[in-house]
Amino acid sequence: MDIPMQNKLADRIKLREESVRTRMLNIAGKLDDVIALGRGDPDLPTPAHIVEAGQRALANGATHYTHPMGMPILREAIGETLADVDGLNYAIDEIVVTTGAQEAVFAAMLACVNPGDEVIVPAPGYTSYDQAIELAGGVPVPVATYEADDFALTAAAVAAKLSPRTKMLCLLNPSNPTGAVTPPSEVEALAALAVEHDLIVISDEIYARLVYDGAEVLPVARLPGMKERTITINGFSKAYAMTGWRVGYFATSPGLVKALTEVHHGLTICAPAVSQHAALAALQGPQDCVAAMREIYDQRRKVMCRALDEMGLSYGKPAGAFYVYANVSKTGLPASEFCVRLLEDAQVMIFPGSLFGDHNDNFIRISLLQPVERLEQAIQRMAKTVTALVGS
Ligand SMILES: Cc1ncc(COP(=O)(O)O)c(C=O)c1O
Repeated sequence: MDIPMQNKLADRIKLREESVRTRMLNIAGKLDDVIALGRGDPDLPTPAHIVEAGQRALANGATHYTHPMGMPILREAIGETLADVDGLNYAIDEIVVTTGAQEAVFAAMLACVNPGDEVIVPAPGYTSYDQAIELAGGVPVPVATYEADDFALTAAAVAAKLSPRTKMLCLLNPSNPTGAVTPPSEVEALAALAVEHDLIVISDEIYARLVYDGAEVLPVARLPGMKERTITINGFSKAYAMTGWRVGYFATSPGLVKALTEVHHGLTICAPAVSQHAALAALQGPQDCVAAMREIYDQRRKVMCRALDEMGLSYGKPAGAFYVYANVSKTGLPASEFCVRLLEDAQVMIFPGSLFGDHNDNFIRISLLQPVERLEQAIQRMAKTVTALVGS
């Protein structure tokens, strides 16, 4: 059906197939008591001391622009965190506070990608990357990751996709939607590839504070020859349950920082002042709130993995983030149909992997963002639907 004015859109705009998400949201709107395991927005509140810092900042007049790169005192605190927690050494003028990590992704692509440049992205992945690459005129080149490897990205798979047009490699470590942590040995091999082929690397470490079972995230910029070619992206949304504050950051080398800062300034001028004050409190305050949230997600992860085992559904064991990426092909339905069935029959909302680039439509991304009691309720409902489809 022709929609008036749609033919006026710029060629660079690719309208994505959103029909499953839209269909599910429409169905959910007519149902009661839907248990939402769809979005990536923590159900836990922003810790009180961070909220209070934001309130104090507003009362004290933090209602104006800040320095475009972010308040110096916040960039200093970010620099200290990057050094102490991640082992990365960035000077204050190599760090830029952005309106969420999301803005950093778009600033990076717009500043670095030329029309026709290829950018390697893990698949399944966080499709905002594809969107940002395409907006910049680039070509996303998906590199498949597999359930059998717990969806870890491998340097061998990346090497097979490199071409003379490859400009950039994107690492999501840990990954959305799979929760995979790239093993340090693979990070090293990927870094070697990046140096050999002179690639820019984006290392999105927004889930790096949320890892389990002793998994280690190796920040790629720590490796020899990597700081100059890496754009490290991180933020506050996930670790501190601060999605609505819209504050994140990137850190990169002098060669890249100026151009990315220009794009950032053009997009948003600066991150919200009040949120920068809250972010400062997050970094300077006690870190046990992060540990406590990690514990909660870990408990939920164990509950969900056990339940999937009992349902006979396989998954890639997540070592990070707060998702489980599960294979529902056993139910005989494409994952997108399974999700609609689950919503209609059991009032549980989970999004299919097709929203994250799973073209075979076999997987679902379960967000662990409900209290355990509610998760257990969702599991009971889900088990009934699965049993009805698979047979007991
Ligand atoms: C891998 C990844 N990067 C970036 C973002 C954006 O985060 P922010 O809320 O900081 O913009 C998300 C959000 O889900 C994400 O999953």
